Amino acid sequence: MRGIRVAVIGGGQNCEHDVSVASAASVRQALDPSKYEAVALTIGRDGRWHGPELGALASGSLAAALDVLATCDVVFPLVHGPQGEDGTLAGLCELAGVPYVGSPLRAGALAMDKWATKLVAEAVGVRTAKGALVTSTADFTGPVVVKPVAAGSSFGVTLVRREEDLEPAVRQALELDDRVLVEEVLNGREIDIAVLDDPDEGRRTGPPLEIQVPGLFDTTVKYDGSARFVVPAPLAGTELKALEDSALKVYEALGCRGLARVDFFLTDDGFVLNEVNTMPGMTAESQVPKMFAAAGLSYPDLLDKLVRGAMR
Ligand SMILES: Nc1ncnc2c1ncn2[C@@H]1O[C@H](COP(=O)(O)OP(=O)(O)O)[C@@H](O)[C@H]1O
Ligand SMILES: [Mg+2]
Repeated sequence: MRGIRVAVIGGGQNCEHDVSVASAASVRQALDPSKYEAVALTIGRDGRWHGPELGALASGSLAAALDVLATCDVVFPLVHGPQGEDGTLAGLCELAGVPYVGSPLRAGALAMDKWATKLVAEAVGVRTAKGALVTSTADFTGPVVVKPVAAGSSFGVTLVRREEDLEPAVRQALELDDRVLVEEVLNGREIDIAVLDDPDEGRRTGPPLEIQVPGLFDTTVKYDGSARFVVPAPLAGTELKALEDSALKVYEALGCRGLARVDFFLTDDGFVLNEVNTMPGMTAESQVPKMFAAAGLSYPDLLDKLVRGAMR
């Protein structure tokens, strides 16, 4: 009997390419080989597709990749950021008629857009950081966080304290997106909540994770190991309940499916939603697998639930 063929797609044409390649490699290795046959597909930075099942001659074309996808039972799209997590890959799978892990196009697109996420969250009563959308320049009114509307892994995110640093920060963010958010600086703990559509137990949240970092959680800190994850994050029962309820509310309002990581700040006057990741980092060492591991769900078992959930 042949295994269930899972197309594991990684890479992508954005600044999170390497992060995605790591997620995809990790997932391929951890998928139970007695049950699944992992089929590697990597999207290069130039948009060309690569993989052992793509013929050398045809290598690179989307058409060839679609031929491989057509032989697979399910897709595990692990491309973070624009042209992947933003609904692009979900849309491709929909059109190709192959089931896929994770959120449909609309949820991916909404969650990838940090401005749209704010509007949806506020509409269902979940507070977010006050922010303004800019497309060219911004006026300095005090310390702010500047970030591209759609990016990830902290690329293009700057904490601006001095007036003269605002322009360069906006320019840097504009290199990644044509829309930029200028947000109030939130001081508080960073707490992430994972939501999982568990095919056995239904929709549920994982234990909360706290990110402890010296300063801003920037790209360097994210990958140099100086960030510390604490799972479960120490929280009062009422606090945790409120965070979980809000995470579920936003997940539903955006129309997420499968899995998402919903990130909050816990400030002195309550919690504030930061962002929603519909395809969060998925190496064994990433936040979401760590959260579920703390609840007794191993990394291979988490992946198994995601794939089974997608195929249902
Ligand atoms: N408004 C804010 N106030 C304080 N810190 C922030 C704010 N927005 C972002 N940060 C910090 O920057 C990091 C990256 O920002 P985030 O919005 O999560 O972008 P990304 O999609 O790149 O992860 C956050 O994890 C947090 O540490
Ligand atoms: Mg983030």
